[in-house]
Amino acid sequence: MTLKEMMSQRHVVKKYTDQDLSPEAQQEVSKRIDDLNQKFNLSMSLKVNDDNGLSSLAKHFMSKNATNYIILASKQKSDEADEALGYAAADLMLYVQSIGLNSWFIGGTYNHKLGQAEHLVVRSIVVIGHGQTSGAPHRSKSLSDVSDYQQKSYPEWYKQGIEAALLAPTAMNRQKFHFAFNDGKPKLTVAPGSFAMIERGLLKYHFELGSGRHLNE
Ligand SMILES: Cc1cc2nc3c(=O)[nH]c(=O)nc-3n(C[C@H](O)[C@H](O)[C@H](O)COP(=O)(O)O)c2cc1C
Repeated sequence: MTLKEMMSQRHVVKKYTDQDLSPEAQQEVSKRIDDLNQKFNLSMSLKVNDDNGLSSLAKHFMSKNATNYIILASKQKSDEADEALGYAAADLMLYVQSIGLNSWFIGGTYNHKLGQAEHLVVRSIVVIGHGQTSGAPHRSKSLSDVSDYQQKSYPEWYKQGIEAALLAPTAMNRQKFHFAFNDGKPKLTVAPGSFAMIERGLLKYHFELGSGRHLNE
């Protein structure tokens, strides 16, 4: 199955079984992380069988067996790095879905001591593993809530990109973004907030996968 198909199958999953990640899965995910680190100059890494990833609140009250996770880190904090982390995280979440795993993006309730020893800027983590369930679709805004799309005036690929962006995870499922079509080019605006650039990366990845076009602005 393609990554594109994974967009409608991926949903946040917070409770996992105690089944380990297979050595093959660990290897495949690590390879994907390495490639993305190289491409975007990031410092992401995979931790397995490690129950240090979550805040104690999330560990004790919100989750089960959330012991495998990807640390979303860069060497320096910048808007560019944040956007790249969101873009890479979208790729990783859809990739793990395609190899039969589930995921959970955590921007707030992770262990904020992660990465300190290595002097890395850790922005979020993505928990991965064998979900107890496969989750459920999030409540979603509509095409007209988040864009200027009009059937007669705009191309089909633009619509498909926005529909894909509506499947992306956002913090607290807020979906505070807007697409506008200017001079033949789509433009994405994300509402300000500490996760805005990360969300921009997540949304951009989904838009590009859905539309088959680059979101170059
Ligand atoms: C930037 C960002 C930050 C998030 N932070 C948290 C968090 O701190 N705790 C949590 O339980 N979920 C967190 N989530 C998960 C979202 O609540 C979840 O992705 C959203 O409700 C949409 O659901 P979906 O992932 O099924 O599409 C975060 C997601 C994103 C994109």
